[in-house]
Amino acid sequence: MEIISGIALSRTIKEEIKQEVSTFLAKGLRRPKLVAVLVGSDGPSQTYVNAKVKDCHQVGFESEAVRLDENTSEEVLLAWVEKLNADPSVDGFIVQLPLPKGIDESKVLLAIDPAKDVDGFHPVNIGNMALGLPGFVPATPAGVIQMLKRSGIDTSGKHCVIIGRSKIVGMPLSILLARNSNPGNCTVTLTHSRTKNLKEICKEADILIAALGKPGFIKADMIKAGAVIIDVGISRVETDTNEKGYIIQGDVDFDSVSEKVGFISPVPGGVGPMTRTSLLTNTLTAYKRSFNLK
Ligand code: GUN
Repeated sequence: MEIISGIALSRTIKEEIKQEVSTFLAKGLRRPKLVAVLVGSDGPSQTYVNAKVKDCHQVGFESEAVRLDENTSEEVLLAWVEKLNADPSVDGFIVQLPLPKGIDESKVLLAIDPAKDVDGFHPVNIGNMALGLPGFVPATPAGVIQMLKRSGIDTSGKHCVIIGRSKIVGMPLSILLARNSNPGNCTVTLTHSRTKNLKEICKEADILIAALGKPGFIKADMIKAGAVIIDVGISRVETDTNEKGYIIQGDVDFDSVSEKVGFISPVPGGVGPMTRTSLLTNTLTAYKRSFNLK
C-alpha cells in the first residue's frame, strides 16, 4: 500500500511555482495576484479564504480578500465582479461559495471574465475543458489529476469509478479521465445517488474516486484488491476528543481499506492541499497568459 500524500506533492508544486515567480520578478515583471471575494461570515468559507491568501504569500503572489457583509445585494456583488474583471493588476479571482440566500450564484459566476476565472466554474471554461481547449480546470479535479500523474499511476485503459456527480468535482473529473490524454484514457463510470448496485460497480474499479460527502462510506468489501483510491470527501464529524469539537473525515474508511489497496490518498492531507495548490497553478497560468509568457 502506498500513500499519496497531498501535503508532500503540494509542497513540491508550491516550490516549483515559487521558482517560476522568482524568474519573472528577475525580469522586472510584477507579482501574480489572486483576489478572493467572501460574502457573509460562513465559518468554513472564512477558513478556506484565509488559507488561500496565505498560500499565495507562500509562493510570492500578491493576494487580497474582499470581505463583504452578509446583507450585500446581488447588485453590489456584481459591481465588485466588474471591478475585478477590469483591474489589470488582478490575474485571477474567485467568489467563494456558497453565497447567501437571495444572490443568484449562476448570475455571479457568469459575470466573471473567463480569462480570470481561476476556479474554472464559468461555462466557457467547462466547455473548453470538455473540448480539450486551453482554459481553467476546476481546482479539485486538477489536483486529483496531478496526484495521479505525479504518483506515476498508469490510467490508460483502466476502469475509473467516480462516486458523486457534482459540478465542481465528479462531473469535471469524469470528462478529464475519459479524455485522450495522460492521465486519462480511462473507461469512466460516473455514479450518483440513483445508481443501482453501487457496491458491485465499485468492486470493478481500478481507480475509485469517492466524492459523495458521506464520512467512512467506502469499506473494504467495496473495493478490488490493489485499487487506487482517491478520497475527495471532507466532512466535519463531531467529537469531544479535541478543542475544536470536530474532526475532518473522508468518504473512505481508511483503516478498513488501507491493507487492501495499491494507492490511497488520506484525509486530511490528501486532496485538500492539492485543491489549494491548483488554484495557485491556475492563477500563475492566468498571469502567464496575460503577459504572453511560456
Ligand atoms: N466553496 C467550496 N469549494 C470552493 C471552491 O473551490 N471555490 C469557490 N469559489 N468556492 C468554494
